[in-house]
Amino acid sequence: MAEYGIRVDIIPEVNPDCIGDAHSLMFRDETFDLVFLDPPYTDDYSASLYGTGRLNFKRYSQEAVRVLKEGGWLVVYHFVATPQIPGTVMVKRIFIETRPWHRPRVVHIHRKSEQEWRMKSQEIEQVKQRRRENRQGTKSRQLQMF
Ligand SMILES: C[S@@+](CC[C@H](N)C(=O)[O-])C[C@H]1O[C@@H](n2cnc3c(N)ncnc32)[C@H](O)[C@@H]1O
Repeated sequence: MAEYGIRVDIIPEVNPDCIGDAHSLMFRDETFDLVFLDPPYTDDYSASLYGTGRLNFKRYSQEAVRVLKEGGWLVVYHFVATPQIPGTVMVKRIFIETRPWHRPRVVHIHRKSEQEWRMKSQEIEQVKQRRRENRQGTKSRQLQMF
């Protein structure tokens, strides 16, 4: 991968281009057209496979958004579906089968767009509000039955 980009890792043993912490990158705002995140999948994997500390998805994904140019691509590779990332819109989620009885891998493709994110978060807020109202409606109907 380093042939085409800059590989950052917190441990020198894997021979990265830059040694650094994904929660606090050494790059300026809006530097890259594409950022690819391939983190350890769990805290146990961090400790047992790499000897690294706990990761905070919110913090390192926001840091990736910071170094991305507007309109740039953020790709997250994981074994679970990860949430929406503020400042971006999720364009595609691709589930990759591995072996029977093994977890799939999930590739999430996000595009950085502050404007689209604002619209999306308003939509999410409206859906949440409707769900709250529906729940309240159901509760008051249940109470009326008694
Ligand atoms: C699944 S591997 C990714 C391998 C990578 N795709 C490659 O080709 O080298 C996960 C990597 O995340 C690194 N890592 C763990 N915590 C980190 C952190 N806070 N900041 C940067 N890298 C971290 C680990 O050292 C490990 O090499």
